[in-house]
Amino acid sequence: MDSQRDLVERLLPEARQVSKRAWAPYSGVHVGAVAVGAGGATYRGCNVESASYGLTQCAERNALAAAIADGQKPGDIRDLLIFASGFAVLSPCGACRQVISELMSQDAVIVACSDEHPPKTWTVPELFPDPFSLDNA
Ligand code: THU
Repeated sequence: MDSQRDLVERLLPEARQVSKRAWAPYSGVHVGAVAVGAGGATYRGCNVESASYGLTQCAERNALAAAIADGQKPGDIRDLLIFASGFAVLSPCGACRQVISELMSQDAVIVACSDEHPPKTWTVPELFPDPFSLDNA
């Protein structure tokens, strides 16, 4: 498991770059996320808003979707770095937490950082304890 510092050093440039592509005309919050898959491949996502606000797609889920579309399997998806400039450390929303919990390795690390605050790190169970699962039906 990489340390928080290593992850930030390795992934922050990509997360910052993709955050600049965010489409966020309504909130003005520009978020970038980078997920690491098996073999170290990285997948980027930014938030994409809609005039029908509820259709907005978060950066984290877009990064995870890109990993799946490239053939990564849920257990393969390891680290996730989230970056939002000009924002207190962005804590993933509830919808993203459910998806993170389903798609990421359970010993993955999620790091949120900004330029203004120290980074914050969670494990998957810390971020989303007792996830909804159809296995529990
Ligand atoms: N947003 C993310 O991209 N990730 C989160 O975890 C929380 C919020 C985006 C969605 C929206 O475009 C903007 O931030 C404000 O909510």
